Amino acid sequence: MSGFSGDWLTAREPADLRARNPEVRAAFCAHLREIARGTDAPLTVLDLGAGTGATMRALSPHLGMPHLGVSVRWRLAEHDPALIALAGELARRDGHEAEVVAADLSQGISRDLLAGVDAVTTSAFLDLVSADWLDGLAATLTRAGLPFLAMLTYDGRQSLDPEHPFDAVVRAAMTAHQGGDKGFGAALGPAAHAHAAASFRQEDYRVVEGASDWRALPEETAFQTMLVEGWAQAARETGAREGELDDWLALRRSQIADARLVTRVGHRDLAALPG
Ligand SMILES: C[S@@+](CC[C@H](N)C(=O)[O-])C[C@H]1O[C@@H](n2cnc3c(N)ncnc32)[C@H](O)[C@@H]1O
Repeated sequence: MSGFSGDWLTAREPADLRARNPEVRAAFCAHLREIARGTDAPLTVLDLGAGTGATMRALSPHLGMPHLGVSVRWRLAEHDPALIALAGELARRDGHEAEVVAADLSQGISRDLLAGVDAVTTSAFLDLVSADWLDGLAATLTRAGLPFLAMLTYDGRQSLDPEHPFDAVVRAAMTAHQGGDKGFGAALGPAAHAHAAASFRQEDYRVVEGASDWRALPEETAFQTMLVEGWAQAARETGAREGELDDWLALRRSQIADARLVTRVGHRDLAALPG
């Protein structure tokens, strides 16, 4: 299983929402509205690695379809049974028209999953996949002539304010962890965004891209605690010295408790639009 808990995805959702790049989102939504003008059928948007359905919640208010008389149906593809259940529950709560499909995406996007789809989205997912997987996705979407929106792809930047000398060890551990196999072959990690942009440009897509950095707020204590604990765990797994690591984590927890820590993580968003 992927190891992304519903609690973690819920804790990060407000920071994600603030971070999503408005220009990239606007370019994608404008493209979708153009597609909608040519049809009175509902549009179907497939979200890859949907988690609890955060992409759908983030994007829905910006699609602006009702005045065109067009509705949007979501197909949420996810492999974790607990997240599938939660995504379904939240979609019903919020009145979204959504089907949550149990799908292991590691072998690519199946024909069934793509059937009737007008656009494909994803958030915080591309850095998990390999170069071959991403090239396969670009080729599949090109064949189908589909637009793609990938948000919140980690780009390797991470910083804590105030700084501490041990941050460099933690950053190195994160980088090492990013490259591990997440079920798709060696993960692209921080190279994923640039790789995706190049793959889609090679397929003659117009690519619109921009930053979507997290800046966790001092009062987001649960989110920041999970962040630093996750980073400490990555450092532990890569053999960081236990004593120094424990001291670092204790200091960061106390700074979070005193609302004195600001964490920043670099992300990129990308809309790939067929001509
Ligand atoms: C970082 S989470 C992002 C979730 C969601 N998109 C969001 O922004 O909150 C990555 C998601 O990809 C899913 N995932 C990982 N490997 C997968 C696979 N092989 N097939 C389908 N989903 C997968 C995880 O279960 C998780 O929900």
